[in-house]
Amino acid sequence: MSPIRANHQIIVFKNYEELCRQTAQQILALSQEKIETKGSFNLALSGGVTPKGVYTMMGGPSYRGEFNWEKIHLFWGDERWVPSDHPLSNYHMVAEALLTKADIPIENIHPIRTQEKTAEDSASLYEKELNSFFGLKAGEFPEFDLILLGMGRDGHIASLFPNDKALSVSGKGVTAARPRDLDQARVTLTLPAINHSDNIMILVSGREKSEAIQKVFQEHEAGPELPVQKILAPHGKVSWLLDQGAAALLDGEALHVKPFSEEAGS
Ligand code: 6PG
Repeated sequence: MSPIRANHQIIVFKNYEELCRQTAQQILALSQEKIETKGSFNLALSGGVTPKGVYTMMGGPSYRGEFNWEKIHLFWGDERWVPSDHPLSNYHMVAEALLTKADIPIENIHPIRTQEKTAEDSASLYEKELNSFFGLKAGEFPEFDLILLGMGRDGHIASLFPNDKALSVSGKGVTAARPRDLDQARVTLTLPAINHSDNIMILVSGREKSEAIQKVFQEHEAGPELPVQKILAPHGKVSWLLDQGAAALLDGEALHVKPFSEEAGS
């Protein structure tokens, strides 16, 4: 078993709804802590289906009035190379679940723009926007207060796929990606930018993800490392927020975690 890293925690929730509720609660608590200590909260959002339930909670009646949106800035960890009103757009998904529900200042919303000529142009534009917002010098990476990530069945995170060259891009914070199995290009934060985050929450739901999760935490075999296994966040904290389907192949004892923790809604 590859031991869980000291700065990582695993919480297993009884179902997807509880995962979304507790994740929304943890994001709220972290936003309040960061706004209290540094006056703002910079959050990079994940695409895909899993986090949509979290965004819906955040934009719902229980939470939207609790967030101090004036002090919160929303970014995207990756984007599909489609128009922002396309059903596949991560911006479109977040807009439906959250942006149209909560009163978030427009200047606090920082989408990855996809109207440029190429995905590479879009990646450069986003890099410039991050450099300006975070006041970065050449070679520096943005330090998000929190990056939300999903994980594919193949262990990809953001748009960093196994065997894709975007996974090894190191000299910049944003890159274009053209994963061979996808029919559209992507724009994504790079691994160094992701690993520079103060907090990372990896949301994984469903039995179809359990093999990848088992490989991350319990397999001895060397095998090629999955992209998600490259999440180290040496200066930060990584929370694996799983439902029981995703955790189905984990031996709770081996990981020294309860099937799901009390605060996770037993
Ligand atoms: C995207 C995401 C991607 C996603 C995984 C898991 O743009 O699709 O950034 O990394 O998180 O593919 O997706 P699901 O949550 O839909 O399984």
